[in-house]
Amino acid sequence: ALVSMRQLLDHAAEFGYGLPAFNVNNLEQMRAIMEAADKVDAPVIVQASAGARKYAGAPFLRHLILAAVEEFPHIPVVMHQDHGTSPDVCQRSIQLGFSSVMMDGSLKSDGKTPADYAYNVDVTRTVVNFAHACGVSVEGEIGCLGSLETGMAGEEDGVGAEGVLDHSQLLTDPEEAAQFVKDTGVDALAIAIGTSHGAYKFTRPPTGDILAIDRIKAIHARLPNTHLVMHGSSSVPQEWLAIINEFGGEMPETYGVPVEEIVEGIKHGVRKVNIDTDLRLASTGAVRRFLAQNPSEFDPRKFLAVSTVAMRDICIARYEAFGAAGMA
Ligand code: G3H
Ligand code: 13P
Ligand code: NA
Ligand code: ZN
Repeated sequence: ALVSMRQLLDHAAEFGYGLPAFNVNNLEQMRAIMEAADKVDAPVIVQASAGARKYAGAPFLRHLILAAVEEFPHIPVVMHQDHGTSPDVCQRSIQLGFSSVMMDGSLKSDGKTPADYAYNVDVTRTVVNFAHACGVSVEGEIGCLGSLETGMAGEEDGVGAEGVLDHSQLLTDPEEAAQFVKDTGVDALAIAIGTSHGAYKFTRPPTGDILAIDRIKAIHARLPNTHLVMHGSSSVPQEWLAIINEFGGEMPETYGVPVEEIVEGIKHGVRKVNIDTDLRLASTGAVRRFLAQNPSEFDPRKFLAVSTVAMRDICIARYEAFGAAGMA
């Protein structure tokens, strides 16, 4: 059944687990997520980015998610809109049937320029007002995603702020977070702790100076009843990077957020963990390997099937590590 995000995150908080929120763009990702959830009996959050809506079209995404609900009626599914850039965008998603929306007011409506606190509260409060009137949950964001290593915001495919940010913008302030939740009434709060979108998060395995898990503890201590959200939470599996590079890819050395660090966050109020890049890496690695090893094959269903299996295995591993298995 289609459910609101609030229902799932309240359950996750009560039982002390976290939910991966996977981005979805196509049939293979949708199947991978649902087959994994079905196998381990986990609830599902799927989210569509602006890029996904541009790629697949909003009606196709909507029907893909509704098809998942139809085929797996015993699994609760949240249809979430990722990184909305304005109240208008969120309103259109609600009209389309999304059961949860993110209003990312940490950035102006260009999705790039860091916004001030008053703007963020204004747009987020507006969305909370109309979303809650429809039973739809709202995720807000305070602080800007970006690298504590370089001070740079943003990422390679253009989701996030641009340019150099202050250290203070890259780490959510617990007092400001508490004020923001009070001022807006959001159901879930995305925070900045040094992660960024995409594959190039860290140039070395992250330590506490560049991945601020301690900041989660400080925010949770101040806001014990707020569901926290980690963005940019792909772990960038080294084994998939190696397969991509073995079969013709060229990806430089890079590191993501270790699963055990996410698990530490889940002990301190993190309930939603956004993952996109890991499924992209697994899919690309599986397709590159299959086509290299089966050069005469030309049926796309063959290489898309191995893509689905590779993504499904990542989903299963995350559901299990985050404690969501058995919770559907
Ligand atoms: O928000 C970040 C996600 O990784 C979505 O990226 O805009 O390329 O679909 P995308
Ligand atoms: P990754 O790029 O680390 O997978 O993060 C995805 C995300 O935060 C989507 O909102
Ligand atoms: Na989101
Ligand atoms: Zn994100």
